[in-house]
Amino acid sequence: MKTIISVIALTLISFASSTMAADAEEGEEIFNKNCRTCHSGGINAMAAGKSLSKEDLETNKMNSAAAIIELVTNGKPPMPAYGKTGTLNAVDIENVAAYVLKKANAGW
Ligand code: HEC
Repeated sequence: MKTIISVIALTLISFASSTMAADAEEGEEIFNKNCRTCHSGGINAMAAGKSLSKEDLETNKMNSAAAIIELVTNGKPPMPAYGKTGTLNAVDIENVAAYVLKKANAGW
């Protein structure tokens, strides 16, 4: 019985994540509320060489949604752990990651 429930749960989770495309427009609002203090216009006001430019993201291997989601979820002091603290939910984090990648590709 437990196995059946796990299989159903896993199927639901993978279905939900494959049907919910990340929304960069929603992400913009989240970015402006939570990230702009340190990353206004794609800069990094606290750590040189760790801006949100396409080049820095590539150099630091942060140029994927998965890497950004991981960082925003778990933080890296002084950057806050938005997922762990419950400030942002998983969908918010996916959306803000999509926004960062979109802006980085566009040159901010
Ligand atoms: C208090 C300041 C602060 C806030 C607010 C903040 N960050 Fe950061 N961010 C940092 C610092 C410092 C780093 C560098 C971390 C490290 O040592 O790798 C960083 C790194 C990053 C990186 C990796 C950049 C690179 O080139 O390696 C991304 C992407 C990022 N932040 C996105 C966000 C997003 C999205 C938000 C909002 C949800 C956010 N940050 C909020 C301080 C902040």
